[in-house]
This record gives sequence, structure tokens and C-alpha cells, in this order.
Amino acid sequence: MQYDFDTPIDRTHTWSIKHDFKKENGKADDILPLWVADMDFRSPDSVVEALKKAVDHGIFGYSRADESYFDAVAAWYQKRHHLTLQPEWMTCTPGIVFALSIAVRAFTQEGDAVLIQPPVYHPFSRAILRNKRTLVENPLVLKDGHYEMDLEELEQKVLDEHVKLMILCNPHNPVGRVWTREELTALADICLRHHVYVISDEIHGDFVWQGHEQTPYASISEEACLHSMMCTAPSKTFNLAGMATSNLFIPDPEMRRKFRSELLDVGQENMNRLGLFACRAAYEGGGEWLDQLIGYLAGNLALVRDFCKNRVPQIQLVEPEGTYLAWLDCRELGMTDDELMAFFSNEAKVWLDPGTHSGEQGSGFMRFNLGSSRSVIAQALDQIEAAWKERIMNNSRTVKIKRSEGLHGI
Ligand SMILES: Cc1ncc(COP(=O)(O)O)c(C=O)c1O
Repeated sequence: MQYDFDTPIDRTHTWSIKHDFKKENGKADDILPLWVADMDFRSPDSVVEALKKAVDHGIFGYSRADESYFDAVAAWYQKRHHLTLQPEWMTCTPGIVFALSIAVRAFTQEGDAVLIQPPVYHPFSRAILRNKRTLVENPLVLKDGHYEMDLEELEQKVLDEHVKLMILCNPHNPVGRVWTREELTALADICLRHHVYVISDEIHGDFVWQGHEQTPYASISEEACLHSMMCTAPSKTFNLAGMATSNLFIPDPEMRRKFRSELLDVGQENMNRLGLFACRAAYEGGGEWLDQLIGYLAGNLALVRDFCKNRVPQIQLVEPEGTYLAWLDCRELGMTDDELMAFFSNEAKVWLDPGTHSGEQGSGFMRFNLGSSRSVIAQALDQIEAAWKERIMNNSRTVKIKRSEGLHGI
């Protein structure tokens, strides 16, 4: 069956964070929302059918995952990521952001150092700081349009700051890196050598562009697997973020006990019933949908690539290897971060995420969500180009006026 990703679906007045609440966010009514990592596509039919069945049943009592749920998740990871998961490793939570805070609290003490690599998904630093841990930043390095981990610096910081825990974004939101086996092996060597436990957030792991391969951190070695927690969810892959359902894998029994104990401390036990049905159905029946979607998104990415190359070359695409996000280097537009945000929001009427959301290292960048119908992406690009041309024209008019005023004065 051929899925239709081309026909835009109206998402306004549905309590959508992405499409509604514009006024609250200081945005105009007619702005095009291409910000938060949430796609504008209907989830696979298998998901919609499973949800309809669960809704028709009409009973929504307390629920938790069983063996058939684990089997669906495990089969997906076996088939798509060549990773064998054990049922006892799994704990379900209502979202990964929630799980990150729980993990930080469970695995470290107040004041302990936790390392991240900005620019990175902003709830990482929040989970650390709001739980009164010490934030250690080891920024990624941008070399010739390609981000890399600075592993030498990372090891030094681990030693100097006595880092206990690291949160790895694999693949990396927002810069789109899909870390290679070699990079992750080198990272694991450092973390194992210095007893740094790794939380590997692999929520974007199913979105990898052609020519790249997702490497689960747990697949690096048995030791790395045991010294890490893998965060997964169907929410990015199948557009199910509102279902608040995620699956964590903690192979070490003692770390698992600590995590589950912390969950009980905050009163979290059962799961959202509909989220469980949606997740199982997505992993069981959503493969074909995802394959078609990635093909479709590749077309959207090609459009953005062409736009940056041929239409507004002052904006450079940092070529993504994974995720459905495009990290745009806007430094050549010559604007401050506030001006950039105002330019995209008020002049181009396109709602993007400012790079600084991901840390000060994101200054001068904007994050563009590719997960919309082609016509919407094309319209957004047209609006950005028109706004940029308008700006250039206005600037040259101002220069001319200033020059002529100058002449009058003589
Ligand atoms: C790296 C990363 N982790 C976690 C999340 C959100 O996870 P959840 O909705 O399960 O809390 C996102 C959403 O964009 C993300 O990019």
C-alpha cells in the first residue's frame, strides 16, 4: 500500500503544541510551524486500527505492558538494529524526558558531575541542573561542516570533574550526527576506563539517512551494554509523542533496581493504556510506513539542500546523517540570535527552533523540522527566500537614501 504524505492535514485546534498556542508563544496566526520535533503525518494504519479497537472496547482501566508488548519492541530492535534485548531489562515510562530525570536522580547524588555534548536537546541540561547535579559540557566540534566529539577533551573533563554519568544523544539532535561504531567504541573505552555510566538516548535511531547506519551504544561490547541504559520510544519514529510511552533498557540489575526504586519514589507505576496499544501496533505493523516515510523525507531534505545551495546560500545546511531535523547554519545572514528569530518568525513567517535552545553553542543556527508535507516545506522555503530578498532590497534602499542625504549635506 502507498501511504499519502503529500496531503497536508489540518492540526489546528487539536491541542497540538506545534500548531496551536501561537498567541501564547508570541507568534502570528498565519505562521508556518516547523519547530518542535513532531511530524504532521498520520501514524501507520496498524496504530490507528489498534487504537480504534482499544477505544471501542470502552474500558480504560490501569494497564501495564506484558510479554507480547516486549516481543514487539524486541523484534523491531533485532530486525532493524541487530540488537538482542532481554525482557527483564525493560522498564516503561511515560516519556524519555521524564526517564532522564529519574535516571539522573537514581544514578547520581546531588552535586555529582554529569556530562553532555552541546549543542544538544535542551532537556538534557535541565534534567541535570534541576536535580542539583553539576553540569559538565564537552561541546561538539564543527569542522568543515561536520560535527565531531572531542574525545580528548572529554576524557580530561571526566578526570578533572570526576564525571559519574554521561547523557549521549545517539543519533544527535539537533546536529544530525549518526555516531559511527568507531566513535562509539572510542567513547565507550573512555567511559569504561573511568567508570562513567552512559545513558544513550536513541529516540531518533530509526531515522538514518542512506549511507549511514545506526549503532546502538549497547551493541559496542558486553561491557558497554552493561554500563549503559538505552532510551527508546516509538514517538519520533511513528509520530506518537502525545502517547507518552517510552521503553528503557537497563541491563545491569543493580542500576535497574535503582531506577525502578526512584520511579516508585515519584509515584510512577502504571502506563497509559492507549500508548501501550499504539506502541505494540507500531513496531508490529509500521515498518513499511516508516520505509516509505524516510523516502519521502529524503525528498524534503533534498529541497532544503537545494534551497541552501542555490537560493539563499547565506544559509548553509549542516548535512544530517540522521533525524528528521535540519540544522541550518545562518551565521552568514549577519544577525544576532534575537534578530534571527525575529526574521524567521515575523518576516518569513516560518516558526523554527532557535539554535540557542540547544545551548550557547547553537548561536547563529536554526533547527528546521522536515516532517511536513512537501508543499508546506516548499512554501516555508519560498517565504524565507522572499523575506531575505526583501531585506536585501530594504538594506540597499537605506544605503542609497543615506548616500543621497549625505550628498545634500555637502
Ligand atoms: C533526543 C530526544 N530525547 C527525547 C525526546 C522526547 O522524548 P519524550 O517525548 O519521550 O519525552 C526528544 C524529542 O524531541 C529528543 O529529541
